[in-house]
Amino acid sequence: MAFSTLASPLWLSRSAFFLKTSLLHSGTRALTRRFTGPGQPSTFFSPISLKPSFKHLSAIRSASGIVAQKSSDSEWSLAREDVVILGIETSCDDTAAAVVRGNGEILSQVVSSQADLLSRYGGVAPKMAEEGHSLVINQVVQQALDNAKLTEKNLSAVAVTIGPGLSLCLRVGVCKARRIAGKFSLPIISVHHMEAHALVARLVEKDLQFPFLALLISGGHNLLILAHGLGHYVQLGTTIDDAIGEAYDKTARWLGLDMRKGGGPALEELAREGDAKAIKFSIPMRQHKDCNFSYAGLKTQVRIAIESKNLSVENNSISSTSSHERRLRADIAASFQRVAVLHLEERCERAIEWAMNIEPSIKCLVVSGGVASNQYVRTRLNHVVEKNGLQLVCPPPSLCTDNV
Ligand code: KG4
Ligand code: ZN
Repeated sequence: MAFSTLASPLWLSRSAFFLKTSLLHSGTRALTRRFTGPGQPSTFFSPISLKPSFKHLSAIRSASGIVAQKSSDSEWSLAREDVVILGIETSCDDTAAAVVRGNGEILSQVVSSQADLLSRYGGVAPKMAEEGHSLVINQVVQQALDNAKLTEKNLSAVAVTIGPGLSLCLRVGVCKARRIAGKFSLPIISVHHMEAHALVARLVEKDLQFPFLALLISGGHNLLILAHGLGHYVQLGTTIDDAIGEAYDKTARWLGLDMRKGGGPALEELAREGDAKAIKFSIPMRQHKDCNFSYAGLKTQVRIAIESKNLSVENNSISSTSSHERRLRADIAASFQRVAVLHLEERCERAIEWAMNIEPSIKCLVVSGGVASNQYVRTRLNHVVEKNGLQLVCPPPSLCTDNV
């Protein structure tokens, strides 16, 4: 689940979006400018070239609950609850579809998981994942419509994740979205995965207003962004190598954890048994007074710690170890987690300072992406925001991760 390039943006986003996701994300840059004013740079998400009817999309956007302000648009013709969007997401290993109303009501969400393949092969094989998506995409979409008790004729638009993700897999979802949109003359809303992670917070926290600060932590990204408005983001920090989710996953694998539920959740669980101060890992990038992240060095420290304790990193299932060795592994897990999250805390402290200088009206830090489901992460970041007089907005775990 690790993607690295920021692709183009959009509106509703990734499965998270639907399904996990959320829903209604931003639109094209050109469209966004109609809402945020001409000439404002979008420094985070790049543009995409969709050309749906403006009138139709503006109605959907308003319905989505993501509209920043009504501004000068007088063309909204649909009430929020009348807008119904089908979302499709196939960016990685799960095939997901959801039907969502413009007022944020999730009418259905269906996920077909390839978790077994993932644990069997220790990662996602793009070609195999693509075949998996192709096999189930029609069924997943139909199920989502059936569960919502709707047909394609009731839809206002089709939203689909366009990236970042595995291109072979993304294509399956995009082709399906195009087929439906073509047949029923619907606009397509392309969705940027990371923008979806940020904006899903507006689905659960209806009072969340721009500007806000967002920390997005997933398998492939670590981002600190200042969200000024829809489609108008400034990136304060990103990872210079690995994302925190990748470090959780790799550490979990080396510790022999059961990867079926994902490395992050397994590691969080084991860490509860360990002593977080047992191993002295150093906190990354302290000498760099910026908001960037680095997790490659921490991964190396973990690997060295495992090897120095003579723990094997291959064929090492934790279920077949002694209680003493389990304890050692739990100590490594807890020590890793403490330092990985301390790094987040330090960067967030600085980002809050920077963001408050740029936008003193900021009231919230949104934390989203798969790693934001972690209870320890939430608790620690809550201390940071409270200390700075802000509020933490963290979607429920089912909306933080890409797919439930
Ligand atoms: O956002 P997401 O679902 O997919 C990507 O966009 O990558 O994030 C997946 C990442 C994985 O690395 C997974 O191990 C991590 O989120 N994750 C967690 C937890 N739940 C998911 N990491 C730590 N603790 C968790 N509870
Ligand atoms: Zn994600």
